[in-house]
Amino acid sequence: MVAPDSHCSVQAVVLVGGEGTRLRPLTLETPKPMVPIMNVPFLERTLRRLKEAGIDDVILPAGYLPEAITSYFGDGKWLGLRIRYVIEDVPLGTAGALKNVEQYIDGPFLVLNGDVLTALDLRAMLDYHRAKGGIATMHLIRVDDPSPFGVAVHDANGRIERFVEKPKREDAPSNEINAGTYILEREILDLIPPGRAVSIERETFPALIASGRGLYAYTTADYWIDLGRPEAYLDAHRHIFEGAMPLGPAPEVDGPGRESVPAAAVRPPVFIGRDCRIAPDAIVGPYTVLGDGCEIQSGATVADSLLWDGVVVEAGAELNWTIVASRARIGAGAHVGRGAVIGHDARIGPGTIVAANARIAAERPEATDQTV
Ligand code: GDD
Ligand code: MG
Repeated sequence: MVAPDSHCSVQAVVLVGGEGTRLRPLTLETPKPMVPIMNVPFLERTLRRLKEAGIDDVILPAGYLPEAITSYFGDGKWLGLRIRYVIEDVPLGTAGALKNVEQYIDGPFLVLNGDVLTALDLRAMLDYHRAKGGIATMHLIRVDDPSPFGVAVHDANGRIERFVEKPKREDAPSNEINAGTYILEREILDLIPPGRAVSIERETFPALIASGRGLYAYTTADYWIDLGRPEAYLDAHRHIFEGAMPLGPAPEVDGPGRESVPAAAVRPPVFIGRDCRIAPDAIVGPYTVLGDGCEIQSGATVADSLLWDGVVVEAGAELNWTIVASRARIGAGAHVGRGAVIGHDARIGPGTIVAANARIAAERPEATDQTV
């Protein structure tokens, strides 16, 4: 008999129930895990990464716009995975979501925050977890400002002695932060009270440390970014274009539509989706992604920007360091300021000056009472 691959039995839970408030208006219609990275939903990239690491049993605790996730991934067979969903009626928090999928967990399991892009080697982390023999292992990375994250202090043997979620900058006890990937033994679920929202960061990790059972740090210097803010989402694409973050086997930089648009208009590096129309005297790039079916009209400039599917940029409009969600239309001669985020279907009128860092959502008709 062939010994089973030691990694095959490990399951993965990807936390995908957050509302993505910091990414609004992008996340008003697209849940954060479905936000595209180089034109592919981020969660698809994460799931492919799990598959590559030999993990094919995945549980997705969702709750915010879950049908966008379930309808895209289905049962996961097309990715070679078995995917099961557990939908939360009310958000249960990062540990409550795990307790809520307890019936599907058979043994040690991997937990991923659904918004972390990293080159972490999951197999190496699993080997480390087994070697340490603790109840939990947490991936850590070093950052300059740890205050927006969970901060860990560990001894020379890697044992975590303190964990504090989002401390004030001056109170942060180290610069090693929780990078949002854990390996947990099943018994950790016994520490999570059922039936209410529980934060793994604020309740479960401190309780675990206090209980004296081993929570170990796995600190690496891999590429890592939390995509949960617009600037980080833009930065991540720049890093991918620069080669700092390898995306894996899929065709990445250039994109499927690169050959069918006028070369004169393109300033590499760019990623061009399918069926885009670009005027020969427009400028697209550098560090720019066009989703499928975008149209960039005469004399328009789109630089350092991420456009989703079906975006139209009319003649002479200018976008620099911006994000534009699906089907939005930027009117002729408009200027969109740096850091601005334009939501799905929004219309920016001709000649409009959009302020830097503005957040613009489409005006939607008010929901009306329906009389039957
Ligand atoms: N199912 C479910 N239910 N998922 C949730 C819930 C919930 O109630 N709340 C949050 N999540 C998911 C989010 O969708 C996200 O994938 C993940 O849990 C983490 O939530 P975030 O809202 O992105 O947390 P954060 O970025 O402020 O902080 C977390 O990540 C940091 C690293 O990126 C913490 O884990 C920090 O300690 C960590 O440093
Ligand atoms: Mg986050």
